[in-house]
Amino acid sequence: MFDPESIKGDFPILDRKVNGRPLVYLDNAATTQKPRAVMDASRYYYEVLNSNIHRGTHSLARAATETFERARHTVATHLNAAADEEIIFTSGTTDAINLVANSLASSATLGPADEILISTLEHHSNIVPWQMLCQRCGATLKIIPCHDDGTLDQAAFTALLSERTKVLALTWISNAFGTLNPVAAMTAAAKQAGSLVLIDAAQAAPHLPIDVQALGADFLVFSGHKVYAPTGIGVLWGRAAILNALPPWRGGGEMIKEVTFSHTTYNELPYKFEAGTPNIEGVIALAAAIDYINAIGLAAIHSLELHLTRAAAHALADIPGIHFFGPPERSGILSFGIEGLHHYDLGTLLDKMGVAVRTGHHCCQPLMARFAITGTTRASFALYNSEADVRAFAEATYKVVAMLR
Ligand code: ALA
Repeated sequence: MFDPESIKGDFPILDRKVNGRPLVYLDNAATTQKPRAVMDASRYYYEVLNSNIHRGTHSLARAATETFERARHTVATHLNAAADEEIIFTSGTTDAINLVANSLASSATLGPADEILISTLEHHSNIVPWQMLCQRCGATLKIIPCHDDGTLDQAAFTALLSERTKVLALTWISNAFGTLNPVAAMTAAAKQAGSLVLIDAAQAAPHLPIDVQALGADFLVFSGHKVYAPTGIGVLWGRAAILNALPPWRGGGEMIKEVTFSHTTYNELPYKFEAGTPNIEGVIALAAAIDYINAIGLAAIHSLELHLTRAAAHALADIPGIHFFGPPERSGILSFGIEGLHHYDLGTLLDKMGVAVRTGHHCCQPLMARFAITGTTRASFALYNSEADVRAFAEATYKVVAMLR
């Protein structure tokens, strides 16, 4: 196990004070802080390489292109993709899901008899694009229900699967409750039914090693900013055969082979899905972030985060009227409500003590409706959080509860 206190030194922002108190940053499920290595990679690009890629014959353009494509290889290796061309860079998870949903809609392969299956645990970004797809092609959106402990109802899932199921779009880890879904088993069942499977790994990528070939899904998406990389960069991994069969979503430069005013032919993978100048700096910095987490090791990171989540639940357990959402084993995310207290007040006062948490519906309004709540208070952990952070968070929470009661 590594020492998260020594890791803090890699993250300049963790040195600062907020409202006169040392920052205790527990909003990592919203976005993670960035290590120097990532900021150095961004700076290196602008100071040494800056130029457009895949276009210029000059030295800078060639060097930038090589660094960009090396970064794609880093991502492909990290996910154990079969080939680099299976990695499509997007602006984030939301963009990646919209790409798949829109390409499927344009493929004219879905119709009124078809069903898209998602779960109660989904983030709005894995709900709304599928609703929009259904509006376009007449398919029906079906929802896997969840139990009171925030785990998915597997019997209901099995019953919902049929030859009508054309896409299963499922989160790996719930951003609201920290539930870890059995994605490999659910993927296998959906594939057996003949469905495509998309895994939303936005919350899994910072915590778990990912092997897309072992997982068996068709698409997997995640955001850079939740894995210590900048905002505005994300990844769609897709099986080459499926991506090749899908039409492009956005049109423009780079995604074409030949354009005339009457007809356009499209580029090969991955460029077919990367219209326009990409976020070159973001891609290069994402590779630096992946190297950074791999140097520490995702298994060690996950075990630290599980430990901190358990420790935080234990530390808060004596607060009268506290209720934790999600199952007992939560992946780096602890979501709770306290009877008689509004999550917004709790979060605001915690901030006054330097503790950053997220409050509200966490972009999961249907999940909040399922539990008849307006929101929760959520602490989410990352590789630089320590037991001292958990103690500071618990101490501040007990103080705030005493003030509000
Ligand atoms: N999806 C992010 C969160 O859960 C923004 O906070």
